Amino acid sequence: MRFFLDSANLDEITQAWNMGVIAGVTTNPTLVAKEGQDFIPLLRRIAAVVQGPISAEVIAIDHESMIREAKLLAELSPDIVIKIPLMDEGLRAMKTLSGIGIKTNATLIFTAAQALLAARAGAAFVSPFLGRLDDIGENGLLLLEDICEIFAVHKLETKVIAASIRHPVHVTEAAKIGADYATVPYPVLKQLGKHPLTERGIAQFLADWKSLEKQGEQKQI
Ligand code: G3P
Repeated sequence: MRFFLDSANLDEITQAWNMGVIAGVTTNPTLVAKEGQDFIPLLRRIAAVVQGPISAEVIAIDHESMIREAKLLAELSPDIVIKIPLMDEGLRAMKTLSGIGIKTNATLIFTAAQALLAARAGAAFVSPFLGRLDDIGENGLLLLEDICEIFAVHKLETKVIAASIRHPVHVTEAAKIGADYATVPYPVLKQLGKHPLTERGIAQFLADWKSLEKQGEQKQI
């Protein structure tokens, strides 16, 4: 399983990219609105940092306008993937765009049937929202399991992105289930590398090394 960063914040994106662990970025209108910046120049700046898929969502809800917006966004960089909400017009748009070589990411997926429809419409990625299902008392990981199983049984090429990730357990479980990607918010990405025993171990190693230096037995490396 690879990682995407679920963010439109350029500092977070730059830091995560420099960490060397993300393969791309996903955004959505809510994340972009938080930045309070014009979408197109922001996407250009993100594309200058990230060499990998960058999901940018259309705002339109009818086929023609979705295609117009998608073409405009796709022109910005070959890395742009058009995020389209799961709805009838959206499925049509996925079909049209895959026909002209523009990749799409079907978003707001809450059932396995929606994921299957998107795959059949030619979506390159599907994004089941785990956390939002958990929020209403369902189990997002069970949905992810169903989608990965169906895609494997039917040998579908569409990649599965575990989205709406809230904590590290979502990440490890998604990896065990076989998701192709997990798109994680920056705080969760940072959390993934942390463990109190790792921090305590580093502090102990440093302290022991310093005591050796104090004894004069060890010169600076
Ligand atoms: O990228 C979309 C998805 O990850 C949204 O997450 O936390 O708003 O449910 P969230």
